[in-house]
Amino acid sequence: MKTQIEPFKIKTVEHLYITTVEQREQYLKESSYNPFSLRSDRVTIDLLTDSGTTAMSSKQWAAIMDGDEAYAGSVSYYKFEDAVRNFSGFKYIIPTHQGRAAEKVLFSVVLNSDSVVPNNTHFDTTHGNIDFLGATALDLPTDEGVQPELIAPFKGNMDIQKLENTIKKYGKERIPIGLTTITNNSGGGQPVSMQNIRETSEVLHKYGIPFFIDCCRFAENAYFIKLREKGYENTPVIDICREMFSYADGALMSCKKDGMSNTGGFIATNNEKIAEGCRTNLIIMEGFLTYGGLARRDLEALAIGFTEVVDENYLKYRVGQSTELAKQLTDAGVPLVLPAGAHALYIDAKRFAPHIKPEHFPGQSISCELYRLAGIRACEIGSIMFGRYENGQYIAPPMELVRLAIPRRVYTKSHMDYIAEAVIEAYNNREKLRPMKITWEAKFLRHFTVKCDYL
Ligand code: F0G
Repeated sequence: MKTQIEPFKIKTVEHLYITTVEQREQYLKESSYNPFSLRSDRVTIDLLTDSGTTAMSSKQWAAIMDGDEAYAGSVSYYKFEDAVRNFSGFKYIIPTHQGRAAEKVLFSVVLNSDSVVPNNTHFDTTHGNIDFLGATALDLPTDEGVQPELIAPFKGNMDIQKLENTIKKYGKERIPIGLTTITNNSGGGQPVSMQNIRETSEVLHKYGIPFFIDCCRFAENAYFIKLREKGYENTPVIDICREMFSYADGALMSCKKDGMSNTGGFIATNNEKIAEGCRTNLIIMEGFLTYGGLARRDLEALAIGFTEVVDENYLKYRVGQSTELAKQLTDAGVPLVLPAGAHALYIDAKRFAPHIKPEHFPGQSISCELYRLAGIRACEIGSIMFGRYENGQYIAPPMELVRLAIPRRVYTKSHMDYIAEAVIEAYNNREKLRPMKITWEAKFLRHFTVKCDYL
């Protein structure tokens, strides 16, 4: 059969909030033109994030009833530990309530204010947690990774030469840890190849630097390796996962993504010294070793989520859903970061609205228009998030993007068609998109609370 179907059927429904254009114009105004400030009951299709928005399976909900809420030694923890060890192979598994908590716990063990941390591209909370300790986060994507139009299989890769140069420049003593993020979320949701993971590991290990993987979307990355990297066509995804992690000393995860659940995170490592430090921090910052800030029932849902996410029928549908949306959009001329990732599509706002300068926020203008037109909430990843002024001079980030993140197992084919129609309509009327300005901003991670208006 040619028709690709969702590999699940629906047992419980959640009603969508349907609003009118007039209502949405009012809601936009009330939320100061920042989609983060919209109440979710004013959003019809929520593409703000794929994080914590997964629809759980009936098996996960059933397991939740079986959660063992013991403070110490919960049976649910051991199921979670076995599940993480099964795909990652790591010895020590330390749960946290979400990804940024894992970052905070780990970084406060290994970093000081003099430290430098290389990564293909840091996610904003990872960057924020490193900045918060006074250390320096360096993004080392490849040149092809920052060219939205270029089609290449692994645009999430780390630039290995830049990594080597960075270590030589700062000295290995200042680099207590090296990271790579799979898939490279801030770099356009692009995958990292097995070869690149192996080479990153070799370079870091040559200098005795521990290598950790930020692995929120590890199964999606593994599936792209299966589809795109020579030699892995017939390898089961679970074995690809195990090989990816075999090159690392540890991993950090926001389980809100490929954990197929609504919350959770972990630090996993083979490094006894780092694990010991994390365990101490965990108790102060998160909770006891066998729950790390989570309800134990959430560990049950995760243990099952980790088996469901490596199911290749699921991954085929997941990647198929975003690939199909990308095809509908590109056929209509909408400029996207290509090839499509799995968890999100990224509109290239610079080419979508070339009449709006980066300092007038083309991505924010497109996001607001998608909401106004169709009640779709998307997220700007561009000048609102990363732009800044230095000595009166505007410094723009390399890309102006709008992310359409796709929650796992939530939206059906007709929802995806509706999204395509809205984006295409916004694109066909793109000359009407208006430049914007910021009217208020916070000092740190301003995009979450920023207030905007039209110029
Ligand atoms: N690392 C990556 C690559 C992420 O994408 C995220 C979260 C985190 C770390 C932090 O995890 O949210 O559980 O604390 N990304 C979400 C997103 C928020 O929308 O992309 P968290």
